[in-house]
Amino acid sequence: MEEKKTIFSGVQPSGNITLGNYLGAIKNWIDLQENYNCIYAMMDMHAITVRQNPQELRKRTLDLLKIYIACGIDPEKSLLFIQSQVPAHAQLAWVLNCFTYMGELSRMTQFKDKCAKHADNINAGLFTYPVLMAADILLYQADLVPVGKDQMQHIEITRDIAQRFNALYSGEGKPVFTMPEGFLPKAGAKVMSLAEPTKKMSKSDENPKAYISILDDFNVIANKIKSAITDSEGVIEYRPDDDTKAGINNLLTIMSAVTGREIEKIAEEYSTKGYGDFKKDVAEAVVEEIRPIRTRYDELSGNKDYLMDICKKGAEEAGKIAGRTLSKVYKKVGFVM
Ligand code: TRP
Repeated sequence: MEEKKTIFSGVQPSGNITLGNYLGAIKNWIDLQENYNCIYAMMDMHAITVRQNPQELRKRTLDLLKIYIACGIDPEKSLLFIQSQVPAHAQLAWVLNCFTYMGELSRMTQFKDKCAKHADNINAGLFTYPVLMAADILLYQADLVPVGKDQMQHIEITRDIAQRFNALYSGEGKPVFTMPEGFLPKAGAKVMSLAEPTKKMSKSDENPKAYISILDDFNVIANKIKSAITDSEGVIEYRPDDDTKAGINNLLTIMSAVTGREIEKIAEEYSTKGYGDFKKDVAEAVVEEIRPIRTRYDELSGNKDYLMDICKKGAEEAGKIAGRTLSKVYKKVGFVM
């Protein structure tokens, strides 16, 4: 029997999990559980590359776990764990730091963006962020990494680092690291900001009207959608290459992602209707999608022991897998074992 391929991905608990995180990432991870060996982590070590409030980070990390489970990630099928609870991530990251060049790290788009945004805190962790991410992926010998487009450059550098290490140390034998591949899940919708629809919906946006949090009250969600920026043309049409239509394109994308219907079909259905009616229906569809997630989320909130147990078991299991890779690496580089 062919062995199942391994999938690894994760989200940083650095802000409110948005509708964009859900539709673009987490929702697509659910189906993968059936045919792959899935590992999904909470990336709290990445989160501290920008300043976090400690109480909030702790809370958000567990909130993220609840959201994963509430969205349908089954802890019996997938391995769930908190990055900082598995020391091998920091350990492998150090080794890989010594196999990554300053030049390649300084070319990373996300690094440049974050430097511009956090000019008062351009720390070394922000610079070596991609190396920690490479460690996350390579420790589990992941074959596939479902990520958004903005993370593809990080997958590329992970491959470069893996390739370099393998070329130096694998010799005739089996490569030390499996070469991972990034993939954009087909159904993964790229959800844009409701306030500036040419920008990606971001959980760290300063304007709370720009994003929908999975944990927003239902009437807040509806109001945010109703006040989403559109255009003055007054025509519901899907024109993905026309930036003046970015707002309507985005609402159509959201509607399609939550209903599973084709964008063109939805656009046709609303072609004679006004923006107000359309927004009302989008709001309703989004709320209906989130409602059962919220019910499960609230149930989990009352069950802290269960959550802590998942973290503990997850970290143990992840530690075993990661430890095997780390031992190989330590041997290869010449550490006394
Ligand atoms: N950098 C990713 C993001 O911001 C989060 C992340 C950290 C990640 N390590 C990872 C994603 C490993 C996939 C695999 O979205």
